[in-house]
Amino acid sequence: MKNVRVGVIGTGGMGQYHLGYLNSVDGAEIGAVCDIEPGILKKMSERYQVQEFRNHRELLESGLVDAVIISTPHYDHTPIAIEAFKKGLHVLSEKPVAVHVKDAKAMEDAHKSSNCVYGVMFQLRTVPVYIKMKELIDSGELGEIVRVNYLVTDWFRTQAYYDSGGWRATWRGEGGGVLLNQCPHSLDLLQWFAGMPVKVTALCSIGKYHHIEVEDDVTAMLEYENGATGIFVTSTGEAPGTNLFEIAGSRGKLKLQDDKLSFYRTRMPVQEFCDTATGGFDRPETWEIDVPIPKSSKTPGHRQITENFINAILKGEKLIAPGEEGIRSLEIGNAIMMSGLQHKPVTLPLDGDGFEAMLNELIAKSKHQKKVKEIEDDDFTKSFHT
Ligand SMILES: NC(=O)c1ccc[n+]([C@@H]2O[C@H](COP(=O)([O-])OP(=O)(O)OC[C@H]3O[C@@H](n4cnc5c(N)ncnc54)[C@H](O)[C@@H]3O)[C@@H](O)[C@H]2O)c1
Repeated sequence: MKNVRVGVIGTGGMGQYHLGYLNSVDGAEIGAVCDIEPGILKKMSERYQVQEFRNHRELLESGLVDAVIISTPHYDHTPIAIEAFKKGLHVLSEKPVAVHVKDAKAMEDAHKSSNCVYGVMFQLRTVPVYIKMKELIDSGELGEIVRVNYLVTDWFRTQAYYDSGGWRATWRGEGGGVLLNQCPHSLDLLQWFAGMPVKVTALCSIGKYHHIEVEDDVTAMLEYENGATGIFVTSTGEAPGTNLFEIAGSRGKLKLQDDKLSFYRTRMPVQEFCDTATGGFDRPETWEIDVPIPKSSKTPGHRQITENFINAILKGEKLIAPGEEGIRSLEIGNAIMMSGLQHKPVTLPLDGDGFEAMLNELIAKSKHQKKVKEIEDDDFTKSFHT
């Protein structure tokens, strides 16, 4: 079967990273590149000896590509994906799939009317320790989830980061801050493990640590249909941050910190112990297990998601991160933002029209003057996170 010719749309930090490995993925080759910024575009088209396009529409119509990776700023993921599906092209979208759920639904609709493959770049789903956590939860080892605590405050970013890239950290250019840029991965893991909450109540601080108009510090309380509760805390201004994931279930607790996964396994279901123990201060017998994490035969990360996307096109392989699942983390993030900004609990499914109206009002009322200062030669891979 012939190679899938992939067009990379948006050849900034992330697009260049994808270009760097694409030609070495079995069954894939770079078909063309697109960017609105001519300098970067020329550099990439010369480096990879492919045709360049200043406008994504021309690339989609060129006949030079079978699939696209969309690595533009988030707002553009939606129109580009919809147009690509209409042209019968497969789409791998960078995270977040869109800025808000209404746009993500429009992408899903366009996908449903096509025969194309739709994936989203949630590369943390390829990391063995997260796969193991998912397995322990889905197999029932942990029992029914009663609480999730996810403290992910190690997304530290400097003011120089926010000053770079005109679109970053503005309502108009990005549509949000830490929830939309850094946290889609964390929120995806949260929903992958614990499912969707039915209600969120949050505090979102706008520009607490940085001169920006969007949120950089968040504390959210989550409620689930089965009565389970959760806490999600994130920040780009705290150092040294913490990355602690704790999931308590009816058969014990999973704790992930510093790449070490522990399973505190209760010998008896906790509720059964509570109901039957005779001493008032008795505690269930608990075994602490250092969960062995198998080595992956493939290198975890972006490349593995792309390989899987190509195999889904060529061989019908099941997607690790289907595009349709991108809406879930987005919905949680949107709901947290809405709750934080409106100072009230928000129920899910989220009112997509209401969220969009709130965002449009923030854009309309924005008075923030962004002074853009690009950073030369920053190591982009330092933005990746586990
Ligand atoms: N999966 C990950 O680990 C990861 C990491 C970083 C960024 N991202 C995502 O990748 C996307 C891009 O982020 P980045 O850091 O590379 O940003 P960036 O600013 O470095 O690059 C974006 C590029 O897109 C170009 N562009 C803008 N609008 C365009 C359009 N309509 N058509 C074609 N090109 C256009 C810009 O000129 C720029 O070169 C974002 O959605 C971000 O969330 C994902």
